[in-house]
Amino acid sequence: MNAIRIGIIGSGGMARHHAQCFSQTEGYELVAIAARNPETGPALAHAHSADFLPTYREMITRDDIDAIAICTHNDTHGEIAIAALETNKHVLTEYPATRTIDHARQLLAKMDDSPCAFRVAHNEVLSPAHRALKRHIAQTGTLIATLFTRLTPGRGQRPDILLNLRITGPPALFFVYHIYPLVDCFGPATWVEAAAHYENLRDNGTYDSFANAVTVGFETGGIGQWNWAGGVEIAHAEEHRRIVMTRGTFIHNGTGWHFSTKSGESDLPTAKPSDRTIHTQFRDDIRTGNHQSDARTAIHAALIGLAAEQSIEENRRIALSELL
Ligand SMILES: NC(=O)c1ccc[n+]([C@@H]2O[C@H](COP(=O)([O-])OP(=O)(O)OC[C@H]3O[C@@H](n4cnc5c(N)ncnc54)[C@H](OP(=O)(O)O)[C@@H]3O)[C@@H](O)[C@H]2O)c1
Repeated sequence: MNAIRIGIIGSGGMARHHAQCFSQTEGYELVAIAARNPETGPALAHAHSADFLPTYREMITRDDIDAIAICTHNDTHGEIAIAALETNKHVLTEYPATRTIDHARQLLAKMDDSPCAFRVAHNEVLSPAHRALKRHIAQTGTLIATLFTRLTPGRGQRPDILLNLRITGPPALFFVYHIYPLVDCFGPATWVEAAAHYENLRDNGTYDSFANAVTVGFETGGIGQWNWAGGVEIAHAEEHRRIVMTRGTFIHNGTGWHFSTKSGESDLPTAKPSDRTIHTQFRDDIRTGNHQSDARTAIHAALIGLAAEQSIEENRRIALSELL
């Protein structure tokens, strides 16, 4: 079977990670790196004996590239994914799928008639713990509420990027990996309400710390709520997760999921470990034509963050039907 000729866009941490993984995964040939950074871009290309291209447009118009992996910052994922699907490249993008509602809309429409694979790099879908949780949830009645609270002292290695409203988006977007698993279990939201506080929000979009509260109503019923405060004065990060169903409550205690009812609590058996990775999954998406099975979930997860941003700006509840 012919190798999938892949190009990577970006030359930061995730680009280096994906370059390593594609090089080590059967079925890929890493052909080119497109990056704006004149130091890390050529260095990454050189390390993998790949071509260096200064813009992503030069990559998506090349005939000897079948697929691309988008590893740039959040504000460009949607634009590059749309352009690449238009030139018939298979697309793996880092999350979130998009930073704008307009791009989310365009991506959903494009997926209907694109012959290409489109996957967002949410590893949760491959995680044994998540797959087991999803199976147990399906046997435990209907959702009443999912509750998530997180407090973190850190600001990450690149707070200028991570805590930047313009580039990265609101916290609901850079924590989209906590929203995605619940959209995977309960489907899209019908409405979103949010509030946010940013300490020392500057004109360039950066801030020192944040508190963010997002509440959604799921299409399938039940309420989801995420509360997080980051870059705050606390000695250790802490996180609480609960999923309250009509026939029991799932509790994450930091190491794994437990199941709780009025008659007691038990550990949740996890699924068998799997050697599937996002790279083998993307390869098989392309080979089998199972093209966009997960991308809609990823876009609906990103839409919760985008609707939260709009809810804060307009100080009102946003119906997702208004956006799509
Ligand atoms: N899947 C995961 O586990 C995971 C983990 C962390 C992050 N992420 C996601 O992965 C993405 C990248 O994160 P990272 O940690 O790799 O960030 P990073 O180290 O800052 O790297 C981002 C790279 O993208 C380049 N870039 C940004 N905008 C560009 C543009 N318009 N055109 C061309 N290149 C551009 C940057 O160039 P410069 O060097 O010139 O700035 C840099 O090389 C983010 O969206 C993040 O949310 C995913």
